[in-house]
Amino acid sequence: MDHFLYRDGQLYAEDVAMSDIAAAVGTPFYCYSSATLTRHYQLFKDALDPLPSLVCFAVKSNSNVAVLKLLGDLGAGMDVVSIGEYLRAKAAGVPGERIVFSGVGKTASEMRQALEGGIRQFNVESEPELELLSAVATAMGVQAPITLRVNPDVDAKTHEKIATGRKEDKFGVPISRAREIYARAAALPGIKVIGIDMHIGSQLTDLAPFEAAYTKMAELTRALRADGHSIERLDLGGGLGIPYTRSNEAPPLPTDYGAMVKRVLGDLDCEIEIEPGRLISGNAGMMVSQVIYRKEAEERAFLIIDAAMNDLVRPAMYGAHHDILPVVEAEAGVSLAPVDVVGPICESGDTFAKQRALPPLGAGDLVAFRSAGAYGAVMSSEYNSRPLIPEVLVHGDHFAVIRPRPSYDEMIARDTIPAWL
Ligand code: LLP
Repeated sequence: MDHFLYRDGQLYAEDVAMSDIAAAVGTPFYCYSSATLTRHYQLFKDALDPLPSLVCFAVKSNSNVAVLKLLGDLGAGMDVVSIGEYLRAKAAGVPGERIVFSGVGKTASEMRQALEGGIRQFNVESEPELELLSAVATAMGVQAPITLRVNPDVDAKTHEKIATGRKEDKFGVPISRAREIYARAAALPGIKVIGIDMHIGSQLTDLAPFEAAYTKMAELTRALRADGHSIERLDLGGGLGIPYTRSNEAPPLPTDYGAMVKRVLGDLDCEIEIEPGRLISGNAGMMVSQVIYRKEAEERAFLIIDAAMNDLVRPAMYGAHHDILPVVEAEAGVSLAPVDVVGPICESGDTFAKQRALPPLGAGDLVAFRSAGAYGAVMSSEYNSRPLIPEVLVHGDHFAVIRPRPSYDEMIARDTIPAWL
């Protein structure tokens, strides 16, 4: 459930009309709902009760510092994959003891900064990373707390570009070699083994692959304990999918996921960490855009809108579906007709939807893209010299701009012309 609803024929984010935000900040913009973010976080937290748990929000899905602060203030931890994300979490006031550091390519400098600033654990993804982390920590006179990300070799049955738990994927260490690598980790002076990590993919709509992976994790926990390691924490990664269409069969809920986790891992006496991104932020955000033209071509009609693939790349990059809602609700009985919704960028990939059934919209009308709170703003670029679009956070009957739209001058001023030109 989210807090974007029609009221008196107008789309609202909580108690604020989208059209009021559009009038104040211009289009396009991203709009997030505080109540939805809070609700989604709480669902996960409650679902894992009574196990000791930390819900670490995957910062990559939405890294706005205001969003991180909202979740951090609720008690969330953060899952970061770069020192940039780490510094954002810190800027949001999240203490290092609640930040886990994932990612296949951590550099020595990133490791040093995280150890200096405080870190809950590194989720180590390879043997060379383990050796480097030990060397960095030893030189600083400390031990780095780690889990090893173990690749369980299960097929998450999701989009090819976001599946991460098969043996051909670049992530983690093979489960068949885990005991050997844990033995090496235990022998390294700068490393303190505290648990196991897995993340098998994103937008999973079935619990079976999770259960297969976590069953392997439970077996590995027992084996590693028998080898003498202290396994206190299990990081289960993120990946639970969300409904992108209202008509879709609904993916499992956090409560279903939590029940399965308790069943498979509940008797191991471990603290459970999860790293959800999309399920917390995805349906807590929309992107709102204005129609510039309606173009009636020979074969089909196009709605050319002022947002483009640089603002929301998921349709162009993954063929992803985002529901598109008119901000002014169509009157009952108005017939829908197929239309292609496209941006102004000069390539055909700049298409949000083909032959989407929409009411007769035209120039000046506002449209809202659902499910845009995750992997939306964070994946945007300035392609075609289109400045990054603003982000707005709604709370009850008020809203704040949490990232302003840069001016063209600001965008251009970042480039520098060398003296010899
Ligand atoms: N933990 C790790 C180690 C991850 O790599 C990811 C996502 C997550 C947690 C969070 O997964 P989530 O709960 O959000 O599914 N840009 C793509 C999604 C890439 C996901 C990458 N890793 C998209 O727009 O669909």
